Amino acid sequence: MSNVAPLDPAAARGISRRTQSDIYRAGISGTRPRVSVDPVALEHAARRALSAEAFAYIAGGAGAERTMAANRAAFERHQVWPRPLRDVSTRDLATDFLGMRRPTPLLLAPLGVMEMAHKEADLAVARAAASLGVPYTLSNQASFPMEQVRDAAPDGARLFQLYWSASDELNASLLRRAEASGCQAIVITLDTHLLGWRTRDLDLAYLPFTRGLGIAQYTSDPVFQELVRGRVRRGRDAAAPAAPKVRVTPKTVKAGVTIARKGSALTGAGVRESLRSPLPRAAVETFLDVFSTPALTWDDLAKAREWTSLPIILKGIVHPDDAARALDAGADGVWVSNHGGRQIDRSVPTLDALPAVVERVGGRVPVVFDSGVRGGADVAIALALGATVVALGRPYAYGLAIAGEEGVREVVRNTLAELDITLGLAGCTSIAELGRDSLRAV
Ligand code: FNR
Repeated sequence: MSNVAPLDPAAARGISRRTQSDIYRAGISGTRPRVSVDPVALEHAARRALSAEAFAYIAGGAGAERTMAANRAAFERHQVWPRPLRDVSTRDLATDFLGMRRPTPLLLAPLGVMEMAHKEADLAVARAAASLGVPYTLSNQASFPMEQVRDAAPDGARLFQLYWSASDELNASLLRRAEASGCQAIVITLDTHLLGWRTRDLDLAYLPFTRGLGIAQYTSDPVFQELVRGRVRRGRDAAAPAAPKVRVTPKTVKAGVTIARKGSALTGAGVRESLRSPLPRAAVETFLDVFSTPALTWDDLAKAREWTSLPIILKGIVHPDDAARALDAGADGVWVSNHGGRQIDRSVPTLDALPAVVERVGGRVPVVFDSGVRGGADVAIALALGATVVALGRPYAYGLAIAGEEGVREVVRNTLAELDITLGLAGCTSIAELGRDSLRAV
């Protein structure tokens, strides 16, 4: 158990004082935070807690990881002006987002395959986020079906992130389920129409989806299930080309068992029976076939409007012209992201792109920001540059790896606490007061 009591969800006010007080009080009896408050130590601790494959997948980026470095370096170019003597004894982190007043300007970014970090994966993340009043963007590549995630934290605000698959029927079905399971918005991720050149994963020859991990939204979907059954039927009918020979090693056997276990959603049977069924393997193959759609264009996006009445946010916008295009396409929000440097090596860092996007959007829709946020001061800088809300990514996965639900809660709470302190030390009492004049460009 952690040394810190869960927070009252409504009580974002005074979060920094309570967090510091809890930590220092526990220290009197010799207890130190289980999840480090220092972002670098946090990542190191997660590395120790994770398998080599899981750490590579979560921490890694594209190519020589220069975008990841650039995302961080962009923050170095902004400094917060300290402004004393302004009575900041009461500070309010509340922020309007998607037609609602939220306790804080923080959001959790969609992270797929969190079962690699902890067996409770998205269920743990959803509970932690809900306990802090922070909306959770549930990934299309999550480890649990969205309905189960809703049941784990029914009061938590959730958004559903869609990867536009090659099957429109499947896209429509996923969005229907998202709406029916109480998601407040759809986030369509646009920057992954090709899987990035992920050096760490390639060197380990490891992609979790090929093991049946991170495809729970698909295997629980009736349209996807029909695609899989159709594939198996066709395989039986036609003289299927011989599968490439795979060397049988302990790893192959383990992968086979994992695929069967994950595929039991399709077979409706246990692992033993699922091992004999062609469905789990066909599910992985079907997923790999439908997952990405490099042919997607702006015109296709209009279809999403027919599939859902929820607000639609476009994630992966970096160029200001694309922000303008998103508005023309009727998007209800723009999410500035380069996928945490996982797609292009030497991409434009998102913090550098943010001001131009904000200017182009001109307050017509909210602007979400992510990529490289590692603490509350980073959140403050992105807000000062015009982001409406800021999304946290890898750090919460590290908390999850180290201490499950409690670990996520601590990482998110610490981020909010540091934001609250930064706000006050910058002489502001509300998020709206953070602006360009709170910063000095370096
Ligand atoms: C991601 N990201 C992501 N984005 C998305 O739209 N759908 C997804 O399923 C995933 N999955 C995913 C897994 C992992 C392990 C990582 C690290 C990232 C991208 C994510 O939403 C966000 O854009 C980045 O994490 C932001 O970068 P930082 O701040 O984590 O470096």
